[in-house]
Amino acid sequence: MPEKKKKLYEGKAKIVYETDDPDKLILHFKDSATAFDGVKKAQLEGKGSLNNTISSIIFEVLHKKGIKTHYIKKLSDNEMLVWRAERFLVEVVVRNLAAGSIVKRLGFKEGEKFEKPLVEFFYKNDQLHDPLVCEAHIDLMKLAPIEALPTMRETALKVNSILSEFFSQNGIILVDFKLEFGRLPDGSIGIVDEISPDSMRLWDAETGEKLDKDRFRFDLGDLLEGYRKVLERISQ
Ligand code: TMP
Ligand code: ASP
Repeated sequence: MPEKKKKLYEGKAKIVYETDDPDKLILHFKDSATAFDGVKKAQLEGKGSLNNTISSIIFEVLHKKGIKTHYIKKLSDNEMLVWRAERFLVEVVVRNLAAGSIVKRLGFKEGEKFEKPLVEFFYKNDQLHDPLVCEAHIDLMKLAPIEALPTMRETALKVNSILSEFFSQNGIILVDFKLEFGRLPDGSIGIVDEISPDSMRLWDAETGEKLDKDRFRFDLGDLLEGYRKVLERISQ
């Protein structure tokens, strides 16, 4: 069992701790929900455990398919052991159906299916509200190594295929999701952060019910009830 040491960083949804191994960190998933770059906040008991468990299941699915991530193992209800990574300041979003910011930004109708999955890059910066950026911005501002972008894009699309199928088998539509990347201790590029209903849009394939963080963003219903449904379905 790795020993938990100094607190390295506290974010909106997680706390990162160092361990007795300099290459490994512990992620503690908090019971807090935030939206709109931290403007809307709530404490929801059990959320951390749900996101840690759902993320762990997803990372394991991805590992089986050969996708590199920072995930090592789930340690407890709220904690996960990960490889330390040098994180890039880019969020990679893949969209299968129009929802969220692309509806506002470009006028698509919610639920409209894209001809092929769309990959977008955003600058990870709450003060600027995570603006959309293109490759030239990423290069100019050194948000990520430019030579890593093709790998990030290809990995994001592969993850989309794997997870779309995985969720579809469980009666859920993967509408869109966000990934973060970084350089792992062995020098390779891998997925970091979490992959949970906080970072994906998941709709019930039959009823269209939203099971993700949009429930909290737009007061659509009990957040944890949605997350519990996701966990129940993917645990079968
Ligand atoms: P968007 O439609 O608001 O751009 O969100 C696209 C996807 O990214 C959606 O599944 C939610 C996720 N997301 C995050 O994980 N973190 C964020 O800060 C934002 C804005 C979106
Ligand atoms: N992740 C951001 C926040 O927690 C924005 C969002 O998800 O709406 O504030």
